[in-house]
Amino acid sequence: FFAPVEMAPGDPILGLTETYLADARPHKINLGVGIYVDEQGRIPLLPTVHEVELALAAAAKPRGYLPIDGLAAYNRLTQQLVFGEQSPLLAAGRVATAQTIGGSAALRVAADLLKQVAGAKAKVAISSPSWGNHHVVFRTAGFELLEYRYYDAASHGPDFAGMLEDLGRMEPGTVVLLHACCHNPTGVDLDAAQWAQLVELLRERKLLPFVDMAYQGFDRGTAQDATAVRVLAESGIEAFVVANSYSKSFSLYGERVGALSMVGADRGEAERLQSKIKQVIRTIYSSPSTHGAALVAGVLGSAELRARWEQELGGMRSRIHAMRAGFVEKLAALGAPDFGFINKQAGMFSYSGLSKAQVHRLRDEHAIYALDSGRICVAALNHANLDTVAAAVAAVCR
Ligand code: LMR
Repeated sequence: FFAPVEMAPGDPILGLTETYLADARPHKINLGVGIYVDEQGRIPLLPTVHEVELALAAAAKPRGYLPIDGLAAYNRLTQQLVFGEQSPLLAAGRVATAQTIGGSAALRVAADLLKQVAGAKAKVAISSPSWGNHHVVFRTAGFELLEYRYYDAASHGPDFAGMLEDLGRMEPGTVVLLHACCHNPTGVDLDAAQWAQLVELLRERKLLPFVDMAYQGFDRGTAQDATAVRVLAESGIEAFVVANSYSKSFSLYGERVGALSMVGADRGEAERLQSKIKQVIRTIYSSPSTHGAALVAGVLGSAELRARWEQELGGMRSRIHAMRAGFVEKLAALGAPDFGFINKQAGMFSYSGLSKAQVHRLRDEHAIYALDSGRICVAALNHANLDTVAAAVAAVCR
Protein backbone atom coordinates (compact mmCIF):
# COMPACT_ATOMS: atom_id res chain seq x y z
CA PHE A 1 0.00 0.00 0.00
CA PHE A 2 2.70 2.46 0.96
CA ALA A 3 5.36 1.18 -1.42
CA PRO A 4 5.04 4.19 -3.77
CA VAL A 5 5.67 6.66 -0.95
CA GLU A 6 8.91 8.51 -1.58
CA MET A 7 11.28 9.91 0.99
CA ALA A 8 10.49 13.60 1.54
CA PRO A 9 13.43 15.99 1.79
CA GLY A 10 14.34 17.16 5.31
CA ASP A 11 13.09 20.57 6.42
CA PRO A 12 15.82 23.17 5.80
CA ILE A 13 15.42 24.63 9.31
CA LEU A 14 13.95 21.98 11.65
CA GLY A 15 15.79 19.22 9.74
CA LEU A 16 19.06 21.03 10.45
CA THR A 17 18.24 20.88 14.17
CA GLU A 18 17.86 17.10 13.81
CA THR A 19 21.34 16.91 12.26
CA TYR A 20 22.68 19.16 15.00
CA LEU A 21 21.19 16.97 17.75
CA ALA A 22 22.76 13.90 16.17
CA ASP A 23 26.20 15.55 16.04
CA ALA A 24 28.42 13.98 18.72
CA ARG A 25 30.91 16.86 18.91
CA PRO A 26 30.48 18.37 22.40
CA HIS A 27 31.48 21.90 21.36
CA LYS A 28 28.73 22.12 18.68
CA ILE A 29 26.77 25.39 18.39
CA ASN A 30 23.35 25.73 16.75
CA LEU A 31 22.84 29.07 14.95
CA GLY A 32 20.30 27.52 12.59
CA VAL A 33 16.80 27.58 14.04
CA GLY A 34 15.28 30.86 15.24
CA ILE A 35 15.24 30.34 18.98
CA TYR A 36 16.37 32.87 21.56
CA VAL A 37 18.67 31.47 24.22
CA ASP A 38 20.08 33.32 27.24
CA GLU A 39 23.68 33.87 28.38
CA GLN A 40 23.68 30.32 29.77
CA GLY A 41 22.61 28.92 26.41
CA ARG A 42 19.13 28.00 27.69
CA ILE A 43 15.69 28.81 26.32
CA PRO A 44 14.36 31.10 29.07
CA LEU A 45 11.16 30.43 30.97
CA LEU A 46 10.02 34.00 31.52
CA PRO A 47 9.32 34.72 35.23
CA THR A 48 5.91 36.23 34.38
CA VAL A 49 4.93 33.10 32.44
CA HIS A 50 6.15 30.91 35.28
CA GLU A 51 4.08 32.88 37.78
CA VAL A 52 0.89 32.39 35.75
CA GLU A 53 1.76 28.73 35.28
CA LEU A 54 2.06 28.16 39.04
CA ALA A 55 -1.29 29.88 39.62
CA LEU A 56 -2.89 27.73 36.91
CA ALA A 57 -1.48 24.55 38.42
CA ALA A 58 -2.79 25.58 41.85
CA ALA A 59 -6.22 26.29 40.40
CA ALA A 60 -6.26 22.73 38.97
CA LYS A 61 -8.94 23.50 36.40
CA PRO A 62 -10.60 20.81 34.29
CA ARG A 63 -9.42 20.55 30.66
CA GLY A 64 -12.51 20.96 28.56
CA TYR A 65 -12.38 21.91 24.88
CA LEU A 66 -11.76 25.50 24.00
CA PRO A 67 -14.15 27.03 21.47
CA ILE A 68 -13.06 26.42 17.85
CA ASP A 69 -11.57 29.91 17.67
CA GLY A 70 -9.87 29.66 21.06
CA LEU A 71 -9.87 31.44 24.38
CA ALA A 72 -11.95 34.63 24.21
CA ALA A 73 -9.73 36.62 26.59
CA TYR A 74 -6.64 35.60 24.61
CA ASN A 75 -8.20 36.78 21.36
CA ARG A 76 -9.24 40.11 22.85
CA LEU A 77 -5.81 40.74 24.40
CA THR A 78 -4.12 39.69 21.16
CA GLN A 79 -6.18 42.21 19.22
CA GLN A 80 -5.10 44.92 21.64
CA LEU A 81 -1.43 44.00 21.39
CA VAL A 82 -1.43 43.67 17.61
CA PHE A 83 -3.67 46.60 16.65
CA GLY A 84 -3.18 48.86 19.69
CA GLU A 85 -5.66 49.28 22.55
CA GLN A 86 -7.16 52.44 21.05
CA SER A 87 -7.49 51.04 17.53
CA PRO A 88 -10.59 52.38 15.72
CA LEU A 89 -10.71 49.03 13.86
CA LEU A 90 -11.38 47.26 17.16
CA ALA A 91 -13.92 49.87 18.23
CA ALA A 92 -15.73 49.39 14.91
CA GLY A 93 -15.75 45.60 15.32
CA ARG A 94 -13.93 45.14 12.01
CA VAL A 95 -11.44 42.50 13.22
CA ALA A 96 -12.09 38.75 13.34
CA THR A 97 -9.50 36.98 15.53
CA ALA A 98 -8.90 33.35 16.34
CA GLN A 99 -6.29 31.66 18.51
CA THR A 100 -4.22 29.29 16.36
CA ILE A 101 -1.57 26.62 16.80
CA GLY A 102 1.37 28.98 16.47
CA GLY A 103 1.78 31.50 13.70
CA SER A 104 2.10 28.59 11.26
CA ALA A 105 -1.54 27.52 11.70
CA ALA A 106 -2.61 31.15 11.36
CA LEU A 107 -0.88 31.20 7.97
CA ARG A 108 -2.42 27.92 6.87
CA VAL A 109 -5.95 28.67 8.07
CA ALA A 110 -5.85 32.06 6.37
CA ALA A 111 -4.38 30.55 3.19
CA ASP A 112 -7.18 27.96 3.02
CA LEU A 113 -9.83 30.62 3.57
CA LEU A 114 -8.30 33.05 1.07
CA LYS A 115 -8.09 30.24 -1.48
CA GLN A 116 -11.85 29.69 -1.06
CA VAL A 117 -12.41 33.39 -1.73
CA ALA A 118 -10.02 33.71 -4.69
CA GLY A 119 -10.69 30.34 -6.31
CA ALA A 120 -8.59 29.25 -9.27
CA LYS A 121 -6.86 32.60 -9.60
CA ALA A 122 -5.41 32.63 -6.05
CA LYS A 123 -1.93 34.20 -6.15
CA VAL A 124 0.45 35.16 -3.39
CA ALA A 125 3.52 37.37 -3.65
CA ILE A 126 6.33 36.49 -1.25
CA SER A 127 9.52 38.46 -0.56
CA SER A 128 12.75 37.22 -2.08
CA PRO A 129 14.05 35.75 0.13
CA SER A 130 11.56 34.71 2.82
CA TRP A 131 11.00 32.10 5.52
CA GLY A 132 10.95 28.82 3.60
CA ASN A 133 7.67 27.63 5.08
CA HIS A 134 5.78 30.59 3.56
CA HIS A 135 6.15 29.09 0.10
CA VAL A 136 5.18 25.59 1.17
CA VAL A 137 2.10 26.64 3.14
CA PHE A 138 0.64 28.75 0.33
CA ARG A 139 1.56 26.25 -2.38
CA THR A 140 -0.10 23.46 -0.44
CA ALA A 141 -3.22 25.61 -0.03
CA GLY A 142 -3.40 25.87 -3.84
CA PHE A 143 -1.88 29.28 -4.48
CA GLU A 144 0.26 30.28 -7.42
CA LEU A 145 3.49 31.67 -5.96
CA LEU A 146 5.03 34.95 -7.11
CA GLU A 147 8.07 36.73 -5.76
CA TYR A 148 8.92 40.37 -5.22
CA ARG A 149 12.39 41.83 -4.80
CA TYR A 150 13.16 42.73 -1.20
CA TYR A 151 16.82 42.37 -0.32
CA ASP A 152 19.80 44.05 -1.92
CA ALA A 153 22.84 41.85 -1.39
CA ALA A 154 25.28 44.61 -2.34
CA SER A 155 24.11 47.10 0.31
CA HIS A 156 22.81 44.47 2.77
CA GLY A 157 19.68 46.67 2.92
CA PRO A 158 16.21 46.68 1.36
CA ASP A 159 15.70 46.86 -2.40
CA PHE A 160 12.74 49.15 -1.86
CA ALA A 161 12.57 50.44 -5.43
CA GLY A 162 12.61 46.86 -6.75
CA MET A 163 9.91 45.90 -4.27
CA LEU A 164 7.61 48.72 -5.39
CA GLU A 165 8.26 47.96 -9.04
CA ASP A 166 7.46 44.26 -8.66
CA LEU A 167 4.35 44.80 -6.52
CA GLY A 168 3.20 47.55 -8.90
CA ARG A 169 2.90 44.88 -11.59
CA MET A 170 0.82 42.42 -9.54
CA GLU A 171 -2.79 41.75 -10.46
CA PRO A 172 -5.51 43.17 -8.20
CA GLY A 173 -6.54 40.61 -5.59
CA THR A 174 -3.02 39.17 -5.23
CA VAL A 175 -2.16 38.42 -1.61
CA VAL A 176 1.07 40.18 -0.60
CA LEU A 177 2.87 38.49 2.26
CA LEU A 178 4.84 40.98 4.37
CA HIS A 179 7.04 40.55 7.43
CA ALA A 180 5.97 43.06 10.10
CA CYS A 181 9.45 43.34 11.60
CA CYS A 182 12.70 41.41 12.07
CA HIS A 183 12.43 40.06 8.51
CA ASN A 184 13.22 36.35 8.39
CA PRO A 185 15.83 35.53 7.06
CA THR A 186 17.46 38.89 6.29
CA GLY A 187 16.91 41.02 9.42
CA VAL A 188 16.26 43.91 7.01
CA ASP A 189 13.12 45.97 7.73
CA LEU A 190 11.36 48.90 6.11
CA ASP A 191 11.13 52.21 7.99
CA ALA A 192 7.83 53.98 8.75
CA ALA A 193 8.03 56.22 5.65
CA GLN A 194 8.62 53.19 3.42
CA TRP A 195 5.68 51.38 5.01
CA ALA A 196 3.45 54.38 4.29
CA GLN A 197 4.56 54.44 0.64
CA LEU A 198 4.16 50.69 0.28
CA VAL A 199 0.69 50.65 1.83
CA GLU A 200 -0.41 53.41 -0.55
CA LEU A 201 0.66 51.22 -3.48
CA LEU A 202 -1.11 48.17 -2.05
CA ARG A 203 -4.28 50.20 -1.65
CA GLU A 204 -4.12 51.68 -5.14
CA ARG A 205 -3.41 48.32 -6.78
CA LYS A 206 -6.13 46.58 -4.72
CA LEU A 207 -3.65 44.01 -3.39
CA LEU A 208 -4.41 42.17 -0.15
CA PRO A 209 -1.77 42.83 2.55
CA PHE A 210 -1.01 39.82 4.72
CA VAL A 211 1.31 40.67 7.59
CA ASP A 212 3.23 37.92 9.34
CA MET A 213 4.32 39.18 12.76
CA ALA A 214 6.40 36.53 14.50
CA TYR A 215 8.84 38.81 16.35
CA GLN A 216 6.81 41.62 17.87
CA GLY A 217 9.00 43.29 20.48
CA PHE A 218 12.27 41.78 19.30
CA ASP A 219 13.58 44.90 17.58
CA ARG A 220 12.37 48.10 19.26
CA GLY A 221 9.28 47.34 21.35
CA THR A 222 5.78 45.93 20.99
CA ALA A 223 4.19 49.14 19.63
CA GLN A 224 7.09 50.20 17.38
CA ASP A 225 7.45 46.71 15.89
CA ALA A 226 3.76 46.78 14.93
CA THR A 227 4.27 49.85 12.71
CA ALA A 228 3.19 47.90 9.61
CA VAL A 229 -0.14 46.98 11.20
CA ARG A 230 -0.71 50.50 12.50
CA VAL A 231 0.07 52.09 9.11
CA LEU A 232 -2.32 49.66 7.41
CA ALA A 233 -5.03 50.41 9.98
CA GLU A 234 -4.69 54.15 9.45
CA SER A 235 -4.55 53.94 5.66
CA GLY A 236 -8.27 53.37 5.23
CA ILE A 237 -7.52 50.11 3.43
CA GLU A 238 -10.62 47.96 3.52
CA ALA A 239 -9.19 44.50 4.17
CA PHE A 240 -5.98 42.98 5.45
CA VAL A 241 -4.75 39.95 7.36
CA VAL A 242 -2.35 39.54 10.30
CA ALA A 243 -0.81 36.31 11.57
CA ASN A 244 1.02 36.68 14.85
CA SER A 245 3.02 34.38 17.08
CA TYR A 246 4.03 34.38 20.75
CA SER A 247 6.70 31.68 20.31
CA LYS A 248 9.52 34.18 20.56
CA SER A 249 8.02 37.08 22.51
CA PHE A 250 6.87 34.82 25.37
CA SER A 251 9.56 32.16 24.83
CA LEU A 252 6.74 29.63 24.43
CA TYR A 253 7.95 27.84 21.30
CA GLY A 254 6.58 24.40 22.10
CA GLU A 255 3.24 25.65 23.39
CA ARG A 256 2.29 26.71 19.86
CA VAL A 257 0.56 30.00 20.59
CA GLY A 258 -0.41 32.24 17.72
CA ALA A 259 -3.42 34.00 16.27
CA LEU A 260 -5.04 34.93 13.01
CA SER A 261 -6.73 38.30 12.62
CA MET A 262 -8.68 39.26 9.50
CA VAL A 263 -9.82 42.83 9.02
CA GLY A 264 -13.05 43.32 7.09
CA ALA A 265 -14.80 46.37 5.70
CA ASP A 266 -17.36 46.49 8.51
CA ARG A 267 -18.71 44.59 11.52
CA GLY A 268 -20.90 42.31 9.41
CA GLU A 269 -17.98 41.30 7.19
CA ALA A 270 -15.84 40.59 10.27
CA GLU A 271 -18.59 38.37 11.70
CA ARG A 272 -18.77 36.41 8.47
CA LEU A 273 -14.99 36.07 8.40
CA GLN A 274 -15.02 34.80 12.00
CA SER A 275 -17.55 32.12 11.05
CA LYS A 276 -15.43 31.04 8.06
CA ILE A 277 -12.22 30.95 10.11
CA LYS A 278 -13.98 28.63 12.56
CA GLN A 279 -15.19 26.42 9.73
CA VAL A 280 -11.64 26.05 8.38
CA ILE A 281 -10.11 25.37 11.81
CA ARG A 282 -12.72 22.71 12.55
CA THR A 283 -11.68 20.79 9.43
CA ILE A 284 -7.96 20.88 10.23
CA TYR A 285 -7.52 20.52 14.00
CA SER A 286 -10.96 21.13 15.49
CA SER A 287 -9.90 23.56 18.20
CA PRO A 288 -6.62 24.83 19.70
CA SER A 289 -5.01 23.75 22.96
CA THR A 290 -5.56 25.41 26.29
CA HIS A 291 -2.31 25.80 28.15
CA GLY A 292 -0.21 28.25 26.12
CA ALA A 293 -3.13 30.59 25.51
CA ALA A 294 -3.97 30.62 29.21
CA LEU A 295 -0.36 31.59 29.97
CA VAL A 296 -0.33 34.46 27.46
CA ALA A 297 -3.78 35.69 28.50
CA GLY A 298 -2.75 35.48 32.17
CA VAL A 299 0.23 37.75 31.54
CA LEU A 300 -1.38 40.20 29.12
CA GLY A 301 -4.55 40.41 31.20
CA SER A 302 -2.77 41.73 34.28
CA ALA A 303 -1.40 45.29 34.11
CA GLU A 304 1.38 44.38 36.52
CA LEU A 305 2.48 41.19 34.74
CA ARG A 306 2.15 42.82 31.36
CA ALA A 307 4.52 45.64 32.42
CA ARG A 308 7.02 43.08 33.74
CA TRP A 309 6.73 41.02 30.56
CA GLU A 310 7.57 44.11 28.48
CA GLN A 311 10.74 44.39 30.56
CA GLU A 312 11.60 40.73 30.08
CA LEU A 313 11.11 41.15 26.36
CA GLY A 314 13.27 44.28 26.48
CA GLY A 315 15.97 42.20 28.18
CA MET A 316 15.98 39.65 25.35
CA ARG A 317 16.06 42.46 22.82
CA SER A 318 19.02 44.26 24.40
CA ARG A 319 20.96 41.04 24.74
CA ILE A 320 20.56 40.45 21.01
CA HIS A 321 21.69 44.01 20.25
CA ALA A 322 24.74 43.51 22.47
CA MET A 323 25.58 40.23 20.73
CA ARG A 324 25.35 41.88 17.31
CA ALA A 325 27.73 44.64 18.42
CA GLY A 326 30.10 42.16 20.06
CA PHE A 327 30.13 39.90 17.01
CA VAL A 328 30.89 42.78 14.63
CA GLU A 329 33.66 44.04 16.92
CA LYS A 330 35.31 40.64 17.28
CA LEU A 331 35.16 39.96 13.55
CA ALA A 332 36.80 43.33 12.88
CA ALA A 333 39.52 42.60 15.44
CA LEU A 334 40.19 39.28 13.68
CA GLY A 335 40.65 41.11 10.37
CA ALA A 336 37.56 39.59 8.76
CA PRO A 337 35.82 41.45 5.92
CA ASP A 338 33.45 44.21 7.11
CA PHE A 339 30.41 42.79 8.91
CA GLY A 340 29.25 46.21 10.22
CA PHE A 341 25.89 45.72 8.51
CA ILE A 342 24.98 43.14 11.17
CA ASN A 343 24.45 46.05 13.59
CA LYS A 344 21.79 47.51 11.31
CA GLN A 345 19.77 44.29 10.99
CA ALA A 346 16.79 43.69 13.25
CA GLY A 347 15.61 40.74 15.31
CA MET A 348 16.97 37.26 15.72
CA PHE A 349 18.58 36.80 12.37
CA SER A 350 21.41 38.03 10.31
CA TYR A 351 21.78 37.32 6.66
CA SER A 352 25.52 37.07 6.98
CA GLY A 353 26.38 36.97 3.31
CA LEU A 354 28.29 33.72 3.91
CA SER A 355 28.11 31.37 0.94
CA LYS A 356 26.74 27.84 1.10
CA ALA A 357 30.32 26.52 0.88
CA GLN A 358 31.37 28.70 3.84
CA VAL A 359 28.33 27.57 5.84
CA HIS A 360 29.27 23.95 5.16
CA ARG A 361 32.84 24.59 6.28
CA LEU A 362 31.47 26.12 9.51
CA ARG A 363 29.51 22.93 10.10
CA ASP A 364 32.16 20.40 9.05
CA GLU A 365 35.26 22.04 10.48
CA HIS A 366 33.89 23.99 13.45
CA ALA A 367 30.61 22.23 14.45
CA ILE A 368 28.75 25.53 14.00
CA TYR A 369 25.34 25.20 12.36
CA ALA A 370 23.82 27.94 10.17
CA LEU A 371 21.33 27.80 7.31
CA ASP A 372 22.61 27.18 3.78
CA SER A 373 21.31 30.63 2.83
CA GLY A 374 23.88 32.15 5.19
CA ARG A 375 21.24 33.04 7.80
CA ILE A 376 22.59 32.90 11.32
CA CYS A 377 20.60 33.22 14.52
CA VAL A 378 22.36 35.96 16.46
CA ALA A 379 19.96 35.33 19.37
CA ALA A 380 21.88 32.09 19.99
CA LEU A 381 25.18 33.91 20.56
CA ASN A 382 26.40 34.54 24.11
CA HIS A 383 29.60 35.62 25.82
CA ALA A 384 30.68 31.98 26.11
CA ASN A 385 30.45 31.17 22.37
CA LEU A 386 31.04 34.57 20.74
CA ASP A 387 34.84 34.21 20.43
CA THR A 388 34.54 30.71 18.97
CA VAL A 389 31.90 31.72 16.44
CA ALA A 390 33.74 34.90 15.41
CA ALA A 391 37.02 32.99 14.98
CA ALA A 392 35.30 30.31 12.88
CA VAL A 393 33.51 32.85 10.68
CA ALA A 394 36.77 34.77 10.20
CA ALA A 395 38.50 31.47 9.30
CA VAL A 396 35.99 30.50 6.62
CA CYS A 397 36.21 34.02 5.15
CA ARG A 398 39.97 33.73 4.60
C1 LMR B 1 12.92 29.86 12.06
O1 LMR B 1 12.79 30.50 11.01
O2 LMR B 1 13.99 29.34 12.40
C2 LMR B 1 11.77 29.75 13.01
O3 LMR B 1 10.70 30.49 12.55
C3 LMR B 1 11.44 28.35 13.34
C4 LMR B 1 10.75 27.62 12.22
O4 LMR B 1 9.69 27.06 12.48
O5 LMR B 1 11.26 27.58 11.11
